[in-house]
Amino acid sequence: MRTLWQHCHAATMVDGRYAIIEDAAIVTYAGLIEWIGPRSGLRPVEAERTVDLGYAWVTPGLIDCHTHAVFGGNRSSEFEQRLQGVSYAEIAAQGGGIASTVRATRAASEDELFASARQRVQALMRDGVTTLEVKSGYGLDLANERKMLRVARRLADELPLAVRATCLAAHALPPEYAGRADDYITHICDEMLPALAAEGLVDAVDAFCEHLAFSPAQVERVFIKAHELGLPVKLHAEQLSSLHGSSLAARYQALSADHLEFMTEEDAIAMAAAGTVAVLLPGAFYFLRETQLPPMEALRRHGVKIALASDLNPGTSPGLSLRLMLNMGCTLFRMTPEEALAGVTTHAATALGLGDSHGSLEAGKVADFVAWHIERPADLAYWLGGDLPKRVVRRGHEISN
Ligand code: NIG
Ligand code: FE
Repeated sequence: MRTLWQHCHAATMVDGRYAIIEDAAIVTYAGLIEWIGPRSGLRPVEAERTVDLGYAWVTPGLIDCHTHAVFGGNRSSEFEQRLQGVSYAEIAAQGGGIASTVRATRAASEDELFASARQRVQALMRDGVTTLEVKSGYGLDLANERKMLRVARRLADELPLAVRATCLAAHALPPEYAGRADDYITHICDEMLPALAAEGLVDAVDAFCEHLAFSPAQVERVFIKAHELGLPVKLHAEQLSSLHGSSLAARYQALSADHLEFMTEEDAIAMAAAGTVAVLLPGAFYFLRETQLPPMEALRRHGVKIALASDLNPGTSPGLSLRLMLNMGCTLFRMTPEEALAGVTTHAATALGLGDSHGSLEAGKVADFVAWHIERPADLAYWLGGDLPKRVVRRGHEISN
């Protein structure tokens, strides 16, 4: 059905700028944007339906490009411990942290994981999220990583949402491989990744490069295997220390390197040259009460594209609002509201390998957009979460939320 959407202003986010069209019209057909421009430039169209948007501000559907939305249990007890002064690394060393979520995730059935993930994802959708990345990484063996990735696929089947599934088997060392990290990497490369990729469950491969996780040499083995399988890579890098994982990611043309508080200028230069997106995660920075800020000026100076994401996970960022992350990106990382919005639209799409089809309002792209009843685009970063009045359109069809 061809639909004409009119009486709106559009922040198209083309090239990561507001790129505003005042009094815009949008024509959608077959799930795509067929035409967008000023209403005065619209030629007569045979639309089956015309929708009056009441002069709302239309933006691309929001994209949360880094989540761990599928997991068992939660870690509010560790939150209490950390507030009493125990660090994230200390909790991990005592068998808590990621390992405790691995136990709970292994114990949960696929249906249980789906039910709890759906609630969290629906919370994100109430913020205008139409595309989401979901990582595995709390299963850490073939059967349980498969279970998580199947839940990610099912979320896309049952909700009006595009989902990219990322295999993060190299997230932490499972207990059965204690003291044998290289053997676990061999298992990932020889057994897990080939099987999961063959089952069509993997869109990208991620790893956690950190002293308390995997070394750059171990991560590189995973990247080599991912490329052999034709899969793009991403990396959790420079969150707690500087191992130059982001430069390693750039050498493997990673879609993104994520966290990055401890990255250096050389890392930024390497990422810019490779087109690797910097995904910043202010929720984790805030929740761990970190003080080392990502090097915003170096990222800007070298033209690295910057995305923002919720990092929704039970340990370091129980964040159920992507718009709250826009605010935190501005207040904590000194991003502008325009940069923050680009970080959850244009650049988030690129971080998922979807830059050609998603992330901006342009003819030929998927017709995922949100009509917000706000005064100006900066309002999206201004309010601290909350349910802003809006209409959400996914593939040309309005969805209720
Ligand atoms: O992105 N950094 C590693 N992974 C997650 C944390 C996962 C957890 O603590 O459960 C993150 O912050
Ligand atoms: Fe993460």
